[in-house]
Parts: sequence; structure tokens; C-alpha cells
Amino acid sequence: MRVLARAPATSANLGPGFDVIGVALDLAYDEVEVELSGGEGVEIAVEGVESESIPTDPSRNTAGLVATSIMSRFNVKARVKIRVKKGVPQGVGLGSSAASAAATAAALSRALGLKLSSVELIEEAARGEVASSGVAHADNVAPSVLGGFAIVCSYSPLLVEKLTPPQNLEFALAIPLTVKKTTEKARSVLPKMIGLREHVDALASFSMLIMGIVKGDVQLIGRAMSLDKIVEAARAKMYPGFLKAKREALKAGAAGVTLSGAGPTAIAAVDARTTDAKLIAEVMKEAYEGEGVQCVAATSRPRASGVEVL
Ligand code: HSE
Repeated sequence: MRVLARAPATSANLGPGFDVIGVALDLAYDEVEVELSGGEGVEIAVEGVESESIPTDPSRNTAGLVATSIMSRFNVKARVKIRVKKGVPQGVGLGSSAASAAATAAALSRALGLKLSSVELIEEAARGEVASSGVAHADNVAPSVLGGFAIVCSYSPLLVEKLTPPQNLEFALAIPLTVKKTTEKARSVLPKMIGLREHVDALASFSMLIMGIVKGDVQLIGRAMSLDKIVEAARAKMYPGFLKAKREALKAGAAGVTLSGAGPTAIAAVDARTTDAKLIAEVMKEAYEGEGVQCVAATSRPRASGVEVL
């Protein structure tokens, strides 16, 4: 029995929504093929973009953690061969591990006839995030499974809601190629405590983000994305050029800018009816390159649907 699944890249946090919200991108995809046979154990092979640097030991590999968790939760005895084909670049804040995790969970659910619900897929896929970030956060895996914007309304029990992106929303991205970071490291620089005032401001900004999505108002979405003063502020220090990229993109007409996930990718929300997303991406790329950071400029629409079994 062999099943192939494909899951999209994602951008998490969107400014004030740390670990709570993410959006699926029509930018890049990971494919995962699982093959079941007699015996026991999990075997992993990885190919595609920067695959050499990904561990194939199942206890240190995203897909391996997901498969092991599903097999043990449902008490399945089988030999599982997993072939991961990376399309989403790693370590740049575009949900690379989440795409592998979501595709693995969906492929294995189908191969084993488990018929896991979306929430169960997200729950299992989130366990794969431990390999890259040390924490089972669900803000990348949720949109990779569901598509659109996905909001983690509760972690325990897991409750996720999906919102549809406005038609005129487009993203501009500057993706640094030469900055090496791990999500775990980018989480270690975050403050452990925040004050009541910061909490109120963060709640207000997050509410603005959700209202922007609900009303289909790209300017409101962008404004909210730009307002995070907790996570982005701590991480901006890790990424020379980011704050300049943000300033320049806003000047050039972006509705809002923040770090994508744990960075270093800068993501801007753009109203496609009035602003050229390619231009915004180029402006951000130049700002990064001014600091000697080699970059790729890209644009992406949000992707309405998530993981698919091919
Ligand atoms: N919410 C996670 C973080 C996303 O910011 O650490 C990682 O892609």
C-alpha cells in the first residue's frame, strides 16, 4: 500500500498571533509518500531542496515523529517507509517542517484507513514540530492541513477555526538564503514574561487582525501585522536588514509587514488591486541585500485549500 500527499508552505504568527494563527501559501509544497509493508519500524528517505541537512533518524525527523506517534496512538504494527520530497525551503520561516508533518499525517491516515479528522491530523502533525522547534506548536500545521487562515483557538483540547482570505490579498516575501537559524534558537530569544500593558496592546492588535480577515479588509490585516511589539521586536535583532525592509516596504505601499514565522523571511500584506506585490518584494530584498544578506524575492496568494492526498 502506497499513498502520496502534498502540503503547502505557510506563514505563522502574522505579527501579533504568535503560535495562534497562520496562513497557507501558494508558494511551495512538500510531498510525502508512505509505503506500508509487513514487519515493524519507520524508515525515512529525504530528497529535494536542501535535503542533505535533514536527519533521517525517525526520532529526530519531523515525518518520523508524526509516523511514530500515529502508529503508537492507534496501535498499528507495520513497517512504514516514508519518502519526503522537500519543496519548501527550510529554516526561513515558511513552515517547512509543518508541510512535511501535514503531508505525513494525511498520507498515513489514508494508508492505514484511519480516516483522521482535520483536528486529529493537526494534532498529530504538530508533534512533528518538536523536531525543529522543541515545541508542538500548531500555527503552521493547522493552515497546512486546512488551507486559508487557521486559528488555534485552544491547544488543550485542540480547537481550530478556519477563515477564508480576501480575494485581493497577496503576499510579498523576501526570503534570505544565507541566514542560518533554527526555530528553537529563535524561540529562545523571546521574553518569558510580558507586562499587562503589552498584553492589552497584543490583544488589541490580534483582534484587529481577525477583524481584518473577517471583513476582508487588507489594510486592516496589514496594519495589525505590523503592530507586534513582543515577538518581532525580540527577533528583529537576529536579522540585520529586516527593520529596514519593513520601513521601505511600508513606504512603497505595503499594507503591513512582519517576520514570517520565526524568520528571517519578511512577509508583507499587499492589496493586489492597488499595489504591485513584486515591487514590494524587490524593495525588501534590496534592504536585506544592503546588509549583505543574499535574498530571493517572491510573491504568493494565500492558498484556499490545504493538504491533499494525491
Ligand atoms: N509560531 C512559531 C514561532 C512559528 O514563531 O516560533 C515557527 O515557524
